[in-house]
Amino acid sequence: MANGYFRRLGWSSPRFSLKSMRPNGRPHCCRRPPCNSQCDPAGGERSGKPISRLLAGPLHNDLLCGIPGSPQDHYGVPYSITEDFTAVYRLHSLIPDTFSFRQLGDDEELLSCTLAELFAGGTTRVHRKVPFEDVLYSLGTSFCGAPVLHNYPTDLRKLPKNIDQGVYTDLAATDILRDRERGVPRYCAFRRMLRMSVPKSFGELTDNEQWRRELETIYGDVERVDLLTGTLAETRPPGFAISDTAFRIFIAMAPRRIKSDRFLSDDYTPEVYTPAGIDWVEGNGMREVLLRHAPSLGPVLADVRNSFFPWPKSVS
Ligand code: HEM
Repeated sequence: MANGYFRRLGWSSPRFSLKSMRPNGRPHCCRRPPCNSQCDPAGGERSGKPISRLLAGPLHNDLLCGIPGSPQDHYGVPYSITEDFTAVYRLHSLIPDTFSFRQLGDDEELLSCTLAELFAGGTTRVHRKVPFEDVLYSLGTSFCGAPVLHNYPTDLRKLPKNIDQGVYTDLAATDILRDRERGVPRYCAFRRMLRMSVPKSFGELTDNEQWRRELETIYGDVERVDLLTGTLAETRPPGFAISDTAFRIFIAMAPRRIKSDRFLSDDYTPEVYTPAGIDWVEGNGMREVLLRHAPSLGPVLADVRNSFFPWPKSVS
């Protein structure tokens, strides 16, 4: 299910890089004192050592070296996951309504079920019927739902809260309610605060004719559109799976989460991790973790760029 997710979100888009940004939007240069004028974003220092081994040294550039091992930086505020990050992360539409569990060898379906059938002990029942490798293969070759209007998983709109008493939660309504009670700005106000352009009409918000009419009926005024609704309706830049509005927050928060964590910045060193620990972290990616537990996935993962890219389906 998670397969293809990050790729479809546009993380690999050449328009953006995960370099750390100063509040003024300019990329950091070397921040570990003394800042050395040799820190050249175009060339950088070269060494035969693995890049991360250089990070504890005086020269560092996030763009060249990646963030782990760079100096810790809270950007002047105590570490926190901001409310705007939580708000744009309400990506419940990614969850599919149904799941298909298929055999690794020939892609033949062994079991299909709804999301509700996976609630509570449902996943244990799947694992009793479907071998572990096949579960991994099935999830790796499935796609998530598109984060657009009218794609909310049916079963999340009727989430069992107290089954005995017939009490359910409509998570779609809860998503909107929480943002409102937490004072998250509405869509237009949110974009204004990001210094982004603001739609003056429903037509400028989305090029989907039906959604325009529906939004106009419900909200009346484009300024009243909730943030989540707006991000699901917004016309995207070409190649984007999520809205540009949400993407701006993701791109700011992705490096900040890492740079605020001392174990991924100042203390990402052999002294703290032990040399064996650093080698273990650097020599293994998600693909290696999967293969360690499910070696039979080898042929499926052989040609994927990394395990977060789409996996090929087996041919029967
Ligand atoms: C079967 C899958 C999922 C279920 C059953 C589920 C359920 C829930 C529930 C019950 C809440 C709390 C609602 C409340 O405030 O009362 C919640 C919040 C949230 N969920 Fe999900 N969720 C699922 C998947 C996801 C996914 C895939 C994402 C994002 C990729 C996500 C992102 C969030 C976020 C950002 C919040 C708000 C957290 C906060 O208030 O701090 N959820 N979810």
